[in-house]
Amino acid sequence: MNTDNANGNDGGRRSFLAWAVGGISAALGAILAWPMVSFLVGPIYRRTAMRFTAVGKLDQVGTDPVKLTFPLLEEDAFLRESRQHAVWVVKDGGKLLVFSPICPHLSCYYDWNAAGGNFVCPCHNSVFSATGTVLSGPAPRPLDTLQYKVVDGRLMVAWERFRAGIAEKIPI
Ligand code: FES
Repeated sequence: MNTDNANGNDGGRRSFLAWAVGGISAALGAILAWPMVSFLVGPIYRRTAMRFTAVGKLDQVGTDPVKLTFPLLEEDAFLRESRQHAVWVVKDGGKLLVFSPICPHLSCYYDWNAAGGNFVCPCHNSVFSATGTVLSGPAPRPLDTLQYKVVDGRLMVAWERFRAGIAEKIPI
């Protein structure tokens, strides 16, 4: 009887099983940890990879605010879908002001009140000037501006969201 050979086979089988179990455990661990890693690292990646999206043409913008809507492909963990967004844009001297359409108080969508020449939020009546400063109401900070650039007459905007209800403008 060759016990050495039998022990050698057992040892080989055991090390293969240990390797297989270790590999499967590592793969399962990586799959389970991915959402957490994505949640923690995602904002850092998004900060460095700011994407500009075309929202309209420069000649659409005047001294009265105009609302430009645009589709944006967004990714949330495993979801990837096109969502409709909007920005308010107004000429302010030689530059543009591009506002997020989301009220910095509690994230309602505000509107332009042409008769009053101001932005009004319907939820708690915050009122903002055409340049975004708070005129009245509970809003803790001015309207949030977005980064933009103009390329061949097209207005490109870097869409992002900010925390609501606080005085600082902090990206989410
Ligand atoms: S959400 Fe706009 S005033 Fe409260």
